[in-house]
Amino acid sequence: MSLENKTVLVIGGSSGIGRGVADLTAAAGARLILVGRDAEKLVRVQKEFADSRTFAVDATDEKALARVMQSIGPVDHVVSTVGGAMGGGFMANSVEAVSAAVDGKYLVALRIAKVVVPYIREAGSLTITAGAGGRPHNASGAVIGNCATRLLVQGLAVELAPSIRVNAVSPTWMDTPLWRDVPREQVDETKSYFDRTIPLKRTATVGEVASAYIYAMTNTFVTGQALVVDGGLGLVQ
Ligand SMILES: NC(=O)c1ccc[n+]([C@@H]2O[C@H](COP(=O)([O-])OP(=O)(O)OC[C@H]3O[C@@H](n4cnc5c(N)ncnc54)[C@H](OP(=O)(O)O)[C@@H]3O)[C@@H](O)[C@H]2O)c1
Repeated sequence: MSLENKTVLVIGGSSGIGRGVADLTAAAGARLILVGRDAEKLVRVQKEFADSRTFAVDATDEKALARVMQSIGPVDHVVSTVGGAMGGGFMANSVEAVSAAVDGKYLVALRIAKVVVPYIREAGSLTITAGAGGRPHNASGAVIGNCATRLLVQGLAVELAPSIRVNAVSPTWMDTPLWRDVPREQVDETKSYFDRTIPLKRTATVGEVASAYIYAMTNTFVTGQALVVDGGLGLVQ
């Protein structure tokens, strides 16, 4: 299925992976709608995508997102890259921090799905974002959130078939603005660790990860999958 003249909503399209999805989607001839929280960032990004529309909203606020969806109307595909990051094991973090990481990934994705699905046209898709890499002892809440998100797409895929396909993309660590609050030196050290550890001996480009979302949107026989884009990290870690 081509994305030409399709309406694609990218929640998280103003930065990082979502921004990469916006680039590829626009290049494929789709009508682009970008959602993020920061209105100024959206204005800057919108200038690069002629005819795109933007909406500044916190997608974790179901009522606010529902109002935005009412003004957007029907769409063909929805991508969400909303989700956070967490390091450390169960003993190193508070129960609240572990719970917040799980909720921030899986329950947020569920809430977004409940709001946006009624607006997705027949034969459309929803693609959300999980994550790969990390183990329970060093990424506790994030690992649970990612596992739960993978199970969420399996459930939604069956519940929404045959009308709407539902998939997730699972990237592993990569250098994006997600790490904006982490000191640059520490980000560089982490990158160097993954450059050594990932079998392909480097971290992904945003384009490589974004292309998995395009695959999820356009392959009309793929549903309920979490597409792992990790350079083989899961095979050795
Ligand atoms: N980068 C990595 O190493 C990595 C690895 C594994 C998984 N992931 C997952 O990939 C996803 C995207 O990460 P990224 O690296 O692209 O991060 P990013 O560069 O920080 O981009 C996140 C995007 O989502 C938007 N966003 C975040 N929370 C939102 C909310 N509540 N409502 C509306 N928009 C929201 C942000 O907009 P505003 O800035 O305006 O809020 C921004 O456009 C996350 O789910 C992350 O867990 C990333």
